[in-house]
Amino acid sequence: MRLLMGPGPSNPDPRVLAAMARPMVGHLDPYFLQIMDDTMSMLRTVYRTENHHTIPMSGTGTSGLETIMLNLLEPGDEAVVGVIGYFGQRLHEMAERAGATVRVIEEPFGGVIDPQRVADEMAKRPAKLVALVHAETSTGAAQPIPEVAALARDHGALVAIDCVTSLAGMPVEIDAWGIDAAGSCSQKCIGAPPGLGPVTFGPRAMEVIGSRTSKPFTWYLDLNLLFQYWGDSGAPKQRAFHHTAPVSSVYALHEALRLILEEGLEARWERHRQAHAVLVQGLERLGLSLFTPAAHRLPMLNVVNIPQGVNDAAVRSAMLERGIEIAGGFGPLKGKTWRVGLMGVNADPERIETLLGALEEVLREQGFGG
Ligand SMILES: Cc1ncc(COP(=O)(O)O)c(C=O)c1O
Repeated sequence: MRLLMGPGPSNPDPRVLAAMARPMVGHLDPYFLQIMDDTMSMLRTVYRTENHHTIPMSGTGTSGLETIMLNLLEPGDEAVVGVIGYFGQRLHEMAERAGATVRVIEEPFGGVIDPQRVADEMAKRPAKLVALVHAETSTGAAQPIPEVAALARDHGALVAIDCVTSLAGMPVEIDAWGIDAAGSCSQKCIGAPPGLGPVTFGPRAMEVIGSRTSKPFTWYLDLNLLFQYWGDSGAPKQRAFHHTAPVSSVYALHEALRLILEEGLEARWERHRQAHAVLVQGLERLGLSLFTPAAHRLPMLNVVNIPQGVNDAAVRSAMLERGIEIAGGFGPLKGKTWRVGLMGVNADPERIETLLGALEEVLREQGFGG
């Protein structure tokens, strides 16, 4: 048994794990088709969208992000990508591999992009797509999205976001913010096992996809083919085989979404916010500080400064011996920070106290603290 307080996976609720053990059915079984429809409908609620085209991709969060890039971009397109950390760098790489000419707006680790920079970039030269990470898991920063999205749309661009870490743990408002495409994962604040990449595509995105001049490079992630299986909007409910759906993973996601709706999405956001406050207070008590400026900290992913003289790897392995996983830093933050996740069921004061108690003990063994 592990208490998973890193950047994900988080611990699934026992109901989610039990759902995975339900009897296997075929991927075209009417029972499973109903589960698919229900899953789409619940995902729309969690994404706060009316978008018909809202499904879990078979693959982790990365598969959803590649689906966005490979379907929206064609060779020769222009894209603007915001980079505030490691996962923004990945979006840049994906957009380039889709054949786009990419212009990057970058901020040093810990910062967020001022929306005006996006407006300035778009004024220089239009772009088809503006893509950025909402919750940057490598730095713990929350990129303000609504202003950037409005500015990008004013300049005629589509807007896509990576909300792998944010979805179901803090406000993500696809329709209200005017987001055309978004990708997330199953294993963080949604609280299912890893393996699915929920995506949503709005009408403007689907129009662009429908008027592509070339087929996407990918067959597996081709949305037009996928919706022959998931069911296109307004189309007769005929489902054609595309690939064998990961039935048990979809059961798990379906149950995790049911739990989210039972709790209430807004109550869940609030629980994550309160958990963050409890953690920050507790860290202060231990004499620890956070790396990310308070103005734009994520609730569910906390980047903690490692005190001078404390050995990063030794602390993490001593924590793991006590059954608790926390993660190390990324890139320039490696060896300098830990990443503590409070996701799904782990956004809970008791679990946070368990973490803090263990951390205090381990740090004392390292000669830090009284
Ligand atoms: C912001 C962000 N984007 C993308 C990913 C990749 O998601 P996955 O590991 O589910 O493929 C992660 C994973 O941690 C992430 O935190």
